[in-house]
Amino acid sequence: MFRHFNPVELYFGSGTLEKAGGLAARYGSRALVVTGRSSMKKIGALDRLLEVLEEAGVAAEVFGQVEPNPSFATVDRGAQRARDGACDLVIGLGGGSPMDAAKAIAMCAATGRPVADFFAGGEPEDALPVLEIASTSGTGSEADRYLVLTNQETREKQGWGHRLTYPRASMVDVDLMRAMPPRLTAATGLDVFFHGLEAYVSTAATPLTELYAVEAMRLVVENLEAAYEDGENMEARTGMAWASTLAGMAIDGGRTTLLHGLEHPVSGHLDVPHGEGLAALSLAYLEFILPACPEKCARIAWLLGEEQAAENSIEGLRRLLQSVDMDGGLAELGVTEEMVDRLARDAGEARRLLETNPRPASLEDIRRLYRQSLEGG
Ligand SMILES: [Fe+2]
Repeated sequence: MFRHFNPVELYFGSGTLEKAGGLAARYGSRALVVTGRSSMKKIGALDRLLEVLEEAGVAAEVFGQVEPNPSFATVDRGAQRARDGACDLVIGLGGGSPMDAAKAIAMCAATGRPVADFFAGGEPEDALPVLEIASTSGTGSEADRYLVLTNQETREKQGWGHRLTYPRASMVDVDLMRAMPPRLTAATGLDVFFHGLEAYVSTAATPLTELYAVEAMRLVVENLEAAYEDGENMEARTGMAWASTLAGMAIDGGRTTLLHGLEHPVSGHLDVPHGEGLAALSLAYLEFILPACPEKCARIAWLLGEEQAAENSIEGLRRLLQSVDMDGGLAELGVTEEMVDRLARDAGEARRLLETNPRPASLEDIRRLYRQSLEGG
């Protein structure tokens, strides 16, 4: 028996940003536009969004303060802005950080509660409708209920999701992705690959999430290097964008696993890009789970262009990382031997991500995985 549920109305392709006005008007009349500090403004996407909203008769104000790895404090400030402005709709514009912040702001604005309440186990009784406009191919946040935030005091970074945090509609506009520089393309593209890989090996996988996950991995292998080498290659950009959305749908039901559990403390404490942390941990992780799911690892090897045998998945992954210059270790990101205990403690607390891992991991296993990942592969 399995259940599948994903209520997000999705617009995918070139120029989908233009749909935002009509969609916004369907859900509200005053929008809070949640975005990062500069890139969407720089490429003209923010101005164009404000124009299409105005044409559709939707008033808008901009909350343009979302940092990478957004904090609880940023979300609470955004929610206050939405309440002060009597906003009845939240629009996330950008990569995973603004899209995740938009989901959280919508929930906090509707309930009047600080976001920490929900991370401590509280249930939201309501949330404002959310539209997401994706500008990177990475998180898949446009297609799932999840949001990842960092508690700025403890530096703990955690994922959270609820049936009320699904976007009502999402626009994946591949034209916006042209602006991603190569290193961001590589890091976000590897995040996509690991969403596919983790959803595939997860104990929560279903026949449908496996289908999405396998196709997402295949598309990354086919397109990531080309998008990294030439950001104007729109065929590769489109392949990566579709991979990202599919992978988002895969983790919505199949969830992520220990690899994400290991990475969140790294980007929580060091503020490094999520995809770079995943890349640095991925070889040790794959080696760790391999004995628990050899058939799936054999399929992963095949998807990576190797002969279909479980142990070949390691070499295939190493080649994928090297193809986009992401084969460094955790030490290059600033992790030291002394930090391992603290990181392992935080990772060990992410129960939900340990639950879905195909192989149970003890605290000692987790410490070993961090140590093994200090130097690159
Ligand atoms: Fe991720």
